[in-house]
Amino acid sequence: MRNGVIVFIAAFIALGVSWCGFVLAPVMQLGTEKQAAVLNSSDVYPIGRPGEANQGLQVYRANGCAACHTEQVQQSGFACDVMITSAGTNPPAVIAAWWRMQTNFFPNEMTQRFYSVIPNSGGVPQFPFERVRKEIADIAVESFQNVGAKAEIHIIAIGPDIERGWGLRRSVAEDFLYDQPVQLGSLRAGPDLANVGARLPDANWQLVHLYAPQALVKNSTMPPFRFLFEVRKIGNAPSPDALQFSKAFAPPAGCEVVPKPEAKQLAAYLSSLRADAPLYEAPFTPIMTKP
Ligand code: HEC
Repeated sequence: MRNGVIVFIAAFIALGVSWCGFVLAPVMQLGTEKQAAVLNSSDVYPIGRPGEANQGLQVYRANGCAACHTEQVQQSGFACDVMITSAGTNPPAVIAAWWRMQTNFFPNEMTQRFYSVIPNSGGVPQFPFERVRKEIADIAVESFQNVGAKAEIHIIAIGPDIERGWGLRRSVAEDFLYDQPVQLGSLRAGPDLANVGARLPDANWQLVHLYAPQALVKNSTMPPFRFLFEVRKIGNAPSPDALQFSKAFAPPAGCEVVPKPEAKQLAAYLSSLRADAPLYEAPFTPIMTKP
């Protein structure tokens, strides 16, 4: 073989370049990823999953949940809400400034979706502009301040996944820092689970859903995972772990459904799936819930 050396070098370069692209470049970009600072807070993100939840990751993997569920929220961009926090001493001037901007910037539409007014302010809207560009939000805040009101900008991540309620921001590398292996998934037969712990925090809900999805979600097409549970005769006293079901899904009389350790680990893992910290590369303004 006269061209043996050339073939070898060509193959070496082809494999070497793809190794650099698929292995070296990702390691250089993400291999040193560390806990990140949560925006406007002294907290860091993420903190590792508790032990039981970490074991649950392996149960999740073993049962092929990632065949139907993703753990990656996509985002198409961001928009700003302008919030008036104080109407100041001259509310009519604030309303006039709002209308001036409204007719200037958006002559054909109202940007406001949820109309709420600041109490005792003569009708000053709480969110005069919603889902607008940053430049417009900046101008609005300045104009409101010029007439004595106080206003601030809320950053909102937008995109189809976020509108579905699957997350507050896109998924980033930090979300998976302590997961081995990462369960990104690629097919969405069911909802994305990246933030399911914030959406459905009740571990008991998760257990009932795993045993009988249709008991909680009408016509659910998710397969039940009954082998993660034990149906057994009630002994002297019912187990404190026994799950409660409506009649249609209840076990035979005298029996109870008790989760095996795997089921509890899986429920702990699902409850730990919370990607709700605002980060530098995926910012948003957390909605403050009233205490
Ligand atoms: C054959 C596809 C399929 C598989 C496999 C599957 N799921 Fe589901 N899952 C669904 C569908 C469809 C839904 C939506 C209906 C529902 O909520 O029951 C769903 C819903 C869910 C929900 C509720 C999410 C929400 O936001 O309402 C959770 C949690 C969940 N699945 C966890 C799991 C876990 C854990 C596993 C692995 C043990 C798993 N799923 C395996 C299809 C699947």
